[in-house]
Amino acid sequence: MSDAQPRAASDELIANVIAVASGKGGVGKTWLSISLAQAMARQGQRVLLFDGDLGLANIDVQLGIQPGMDLGTAIERQMPLSRAVISYPSGGFDLIAGRSGSGSLASMPVNRLQHLAAGLRQVSEGYDRVIVDLGAGIERPVRYLAGRAGYCLVVTTDEPTALTDAYALIKMVTLDAGGHGTPLGVPIGVAVNMAASREIGQRTHETLSKACDRFLKRQIPLLGVIRRDPKVRDAIAHQTPLLVRHPGSPAASDIEALALNLTQITAARTGNDPRHATAKSAAPSRARS
Ligand SMILES: Nc1ncnc2c1ncn2[C@@H]1O[C@H](COP(=O)(O)OP(=O)(O)OP(=O)(O)O)[C@@H](O)[C@H]1O
Ligand SMILES: [Mg+2]
Repeated sequence: MSDAQPRAASDELIANVIAVASGKGGVGKTWLSISLAQAMARQGQRVLLFDGDLGLANIDVQLGIQPGMDLGTAIERQMPLSRAVISYPSGGFDLIAGRSGSGSLASMPVNRLQHLAAGLRQVSEGYDRVIVDLGAGIERPVRYLAGRAGYCLVVTTDEPTALTDAYALIKMVTLDAGGHGTPLGVPIGVAVNMAASREIGQRTHETLSKACDRFLKRQIPLLGVIRRDPKVRDAIAHQTPLLVRHPGSPAASDIEALALNLTQITAARTGNDPRHATAKSAAPSRARS
């Protein structure tokens, strides 16, 4: 995908959308997206979680729900995305589920991706934050959706392959936007997941950050380190969000800190005041029909 052509309105960034991407698969994007959605909802924000893993959607699996409507149906029937919104009361947020194994969604051409982004823009207007869980890899749909978000959170672990793929994703998204310094380029930050300790997570970020600084001439801040925690696996096995099942666990407190950092760093663009993002009460769900 090249940005040599003039940008359409659908190509502009959607300020309150946070895309969660990684390059390498299996680093914890889906779990982290769900947990972030819940943490932000508990901070008092109206949150929509969007399953943007167009080929292998599985937010519904991790949450143990069987949505009557999903993104694939809304696209097929040419319905507004708002018709696919379901509420997830125990998390305090709304959700647009994906459809797993949908090859047609995974290989969408640019014009259909633009249409999807326009729908996402429309539905995002009813929320403070929209978290988009992207698929692994650096293929066009991933880069397209990452590049339209108001903020892109790149998730990595300390594995060399995860770091290499995170760098490749950051590079491609930067190049798609016309290189560092272009006003339309999406701001990018990093979360290091499954870290043995906070210090090791910080070192992992330093490695990635040095490469981005040196070769891409862009600074990629660290927004959070989430420690490896057996409670994460337990929560997923029980198809229950971590903040419900193990609210006092190390990973839960790391997610809450990451959610606060993300809220603060994206506040300038969305106009949402992060000072309101400290209450622990669950936000009411904002399902729209
Ligand atoms: N902080 C953590 N501590 C321990 N285990 C974790 C942590 N984060 C994620 N995991 C484990 O990693 C597994 C993969 O997570 P997840 O499915 O969210 O990754 P993903 O990046 O979305 O994968 P894919 O690229 O296939 O979509 C989870 O099943 C969970 O067991
Ligand atoms: Mg996933």
